[in-house]
Amino acid sequence: IYPENRKNSRSMNIHVESQLNPLMDELGKWRECQWNAGPIINGKTHKDSDEQSVLSPQNNGDSVGSVVWSTEKHVQAALDTAKQGFDAWNMTPASQRAQCLLKYGDLMEDNMEELMAICCREAGKTMQDAIDEVREAVDFCRYYAQQGVKQFEEATLLPGPTGESNEHYMEGRGVFFCISPWNFPLAIFSGQIMAALMAGNTVIAKPAEQTSLVAHRAVELMLEAGFPKNVIQLLPGDGAKIGGILTPHEDIAGIAFTGSTQVAHLLNKTLAQREGAIVPLIAETGGQNAMIVDSSALPEQVVGDVLQSSFASAGQRCSALRVLYIQKDVAERVETLLQGAMDELIVGDPAYHRTDVGPVIDDEALAGLQSHVDEMKAKFDLVAKAHLTEECNSGYFITPCAFRINSMADLSKEHFGPILHIVHYEAEKLDDVIAEINKAGYGLTLGIHSRSEATAAYIEQRVKVGNCYINRNQIGAVVGVQPFGGRGLSGTGPKAGGPNYLTRFATERVRTINT
Ligand code: SER
Repeated sequence: IYPENRKNSRSMNIHVESQLNPLMDELGKWRECQWNAGPIINGKTHKDSDEQSVLSPQNNGDSVGSVVWSTEKHVQAALDTAKQGFDAWNMTPASQRAQCLLKYGDLMEDNMEELMAICCREAGKTMQDAIDEVREAVDFCRYYAQQGVKQFEEATLLPGPTGESNEHYMEGRGVFFCISPWNFPLAIFSGQIMAALMAGNTVIAKPAEQTSLVAHRAVELMLEAGFPKNVIQLLPGDGAKIGGILTPHEDIAGIAFTGSTQVAHLLNKTLAQREGAIVPLIAETGGQNAMIVDSSALPEQVVGDVLQSSFASAGQRCSALRVLYIQKDVAERVETLLQGAMDELIVGDPAYHRTDVGPVIDDEALAGLQSHVDEMKAKFDLVAKAHLTEECNSGYFITPCAFRINSMADLSKEHFGPILHIVHYEAEKLDDVIAEINKAGYGLTLGIHSRSEATAAYIEQRVKVGNCYINRNQIGAVVGVQPFGGRGLSGTGPKAGGPNYLTRFATERVRTINT
């Protein structure tokens, strides 16, 4: 079904006119478009409930469409349909299921500009982020299709006594509840669903409230790709309400969740209180990610990677750099370069191909970040900041900035935006830095900048994280190349885009036959 040498999808260079111009023409066609979303149950979109209008975070005057939120009736109907679809889908050969994943990936590529346009307008993605978003979604399809055939198509024969055959195989668990975030509204949304479906489950998907339009369009493409109508159900709407019905429900056989640590705890508690079967929670949550820069690092390279890690995607990545530890001897030099670089950052209209930093997702996010910045200003020194363009007045933009704090302990939680915190450390206090990072309890990404291999290895072996990046930025994990996910407060694993992901969505069986 799939060549061993699977390749990730190809990017494009939007700073080259011959590539940019046709893309801009295509995107232009979607500038005024309105999309409509609602619960999709057994292939049909329902419109029989309250409708919410969707305004763009980049420009609150830009209406992007409307969403019909799911009611209890829709939730029950989705559950009934998904239950009914399970056996046939689970018994469908893995190679046939994989064909649907591959087709969905191809359809996303065919509809790339429309999907990009929704990501820009609904989620405030920059053009580059929107390209990367679609690519990652496509990569998930192709990677899980390949892994799925390897892991699910054939049973593995096991040795046994003469006259007995023993086979081990994996199959789906039942109905999986997939809860996805707004910061990767197509990629993570698709990744969770494709993994669950590839493993033989049926899925009820609950997209983030802020990004139902792209989720709805994605499910339309899944159905076009040939996934049977009863295997994928979409329930846009209120997370607490939908989750409140489905999480404790005995017919939910597993949950895949990406979002805050707090909500993951809530899901975990609710599952623990359930009577009956014990089911898995696959949670990918937040981070308080650090980068450690020693005096041997190349300051220019450090600054480029700090800019990417802290401010790309407006800092709205769980992998993003939050606390930069700089060895004292080089701190002044790095900070001077950082201010210079931040002067050059373009913050503004995501539809402009040179924009580096777009808006944050909504007014609540903006207010939370603004109040954090006010608190930082009152307590600590502002080291560097960028500048907002005039058009930022019409959307949820915040000025990227960097504050010098004393330690990670000055932060009581993760601040999900383009705010960097800097700590200076003395070379002989490196162990304290490592202890401080570990004490916070998160374990997602870590950046290390050092020309000393011994120092980099020393740090890497001691800081407890899932993804460690040495002498580069610490965001943008690539499917099948940097399987992504953390530990501790950052999640349960397994790593998305990695070889063990699908197995957690499955249950194992051994068939023993006395021949
Ligand atoms: N996978 C993303 C990254 O690596 C974060 O969710 O940046």
